[in-house]
Amino acid sequence: MLKRLGLAALLGFAATAFAGADKPALTAAELGRIAAHGPWPLPWTVDPGNRVSGNAAAIRLGHDLFFDPRLSANRRVACASCHDPVKGFQDGRRTGRGLVTGTRNTPGLFNLRQQRWFGWDGGHDNLWSASLRPILDPREMGGKASRVARALRSKSTLDCHYTEAFGKRPAASDPELLVNVAKAIASWLETLVSPATPFDEFRAALARQDAQAAAAYPATAQRGLRIFLDRGQCATCHAGPLFSNGEFGDTGLPFFVKPNGVDPGRQGGIKLLLANPYNLLGAHNDDATRDNATGTKHLRPEHRNFGEFKVPSLRNLRLTAPYMHNGSFATLREVVKHYSELDEDRLHADGERILKPLKLSEAESADLVAFLESLSPREAPPAPAVPPAVAACSVPRRRAPP
Ligand code: HEC
Ligand code: HEC
Repeated sequence: MLKRLGLAALLGFAATAFAGADKPALTAAELGRIAAHGPWPLPWTVDPGNRVSGNAAAIRLGHDLFFDPRLSANRRVACASCHDPVKGFQDGRRTGRGLVTGTRNTPGLFNLRQQRWFGWDGGHDNLWSASLRPILDPREMGGKASRVARALRSKSTLDCHYTEAFGKRPAASDPELLVNVAKAIASWLETLVSPATPFDEFRAALARQDAQAAAAYPATAQRGLRIFLDRGQCATCHAGPLFSNGEFGDTGLPFFVKPNGVDPGRQGGIKLLLANPYNLLGAHNDDATRDNATGTKHLRPEHRNFGEFKVPSLRNLRLTAPYMHNGSFATLREVVKHYSELDEDRLHADGERILKPLKLSEAESADLVAFLESLSPREAPPAPAVPPAVAACSVPRRRAPP
């Protein structure tokens, strides 16, 4: 990547374009590390584990089911009830509330195709099994195959798109029904990509050596970016174009859950994943090579996994408050304060040595928040368009009278 940017040219350029009282010149190492957080958007690729990935009929079916409350036990909870498209596909609540109130924060659903583990504890190794869980989960939608089949058959477009995607009509007796429905939902979710951000524009301006465009990136965000890369070591975990290395970490949050439980995080997630019949080791993985199951095959729950949670992407944070797996921070300011004042005893008890209390000044905290905000689009993206119906399922036009 560095090569593509033309390091020597960039260096001279960066020194002249960015040196200034409020904008320190970027070093070669910093430029390389900025480059590593793009380009954006990432190219879409087919999911080999999902045979309807990229299938137009499945995408439309998945979209329609996502908004359909009839999949739930009380016919009132849809995926979109918690994953609201105009709120970055989350709900703004501390913890999700379906049939009952849960203990974890509802994550946004952009940019899922590039993720490897799903759920805060990584309890799923593929997007369709993560989409199947809420349909059946008695705390969320409490659905079952017969209810799903009935909903599908009651509306001709759902029925038609199902039949087009899977080559047969939906029947509750079909053991594949729920998996197919989840694969269709996943095929739609895969298409959700968040828009470019001020940070992406800055990175792109650096890449094409456009000083004028790069200067539009606020000085405060640029200073925050430097804290993020250097002193904060944030990019060790929040790496790459998604600002996540896709793995799990312990940031020293309490793992107690009211009234008197604990959330074991990744340790529990690995156990759930290995016991799940819909994981990539099971019969429903459509990748004949099974190459996509290698990561799962070698997983074992270990002591150090206790209290670890998925490193979340930092894109779209402006849309997705409150933050962390338990929604315990209402603002980015609070998240930054947490990293600034970390309790080292709690943290290093089990070997997490990257994080140290940063002891940021007020001004530095504001800079880091400004940087984090620059990872969201300027305006909230509109609800995604309804994917077109496939030709076989479009309502035929009425013939003009003779
Ligand atoms: C009651 C609110 C609620 C409903 C309804 C709901 N979800 Fe979720 N969703 C959540 C919560 C909370 C999590 C985090 C779960 C966890 O980590 O244990 C989540 C996690 C996910 C994830 C994993 C995302 C990631 O980044 O790891 C996917 C995918 C997802 N939901 C899709 C769906 C689909 C599809 C539906 C409908 C079939 C649905 N959800 C219904 C609250 C909800
Ligand atoms: C050791 C890996 C690691 C490092 C280093 C790290 N983080 Fe995190 N970050 C995580 C994990 C894991 C979570 C989720 C923790 C949880 O919910 O329990 C998280 C959560 C967050 C969130 C909340 C996102 C959301 O959607 O809820 C923000 C914002 C954030 N980190 C910013 C930062 C900043 C800024 C730094 C540097 C000061 C940083 N992180 C350093 C691992 C890390």
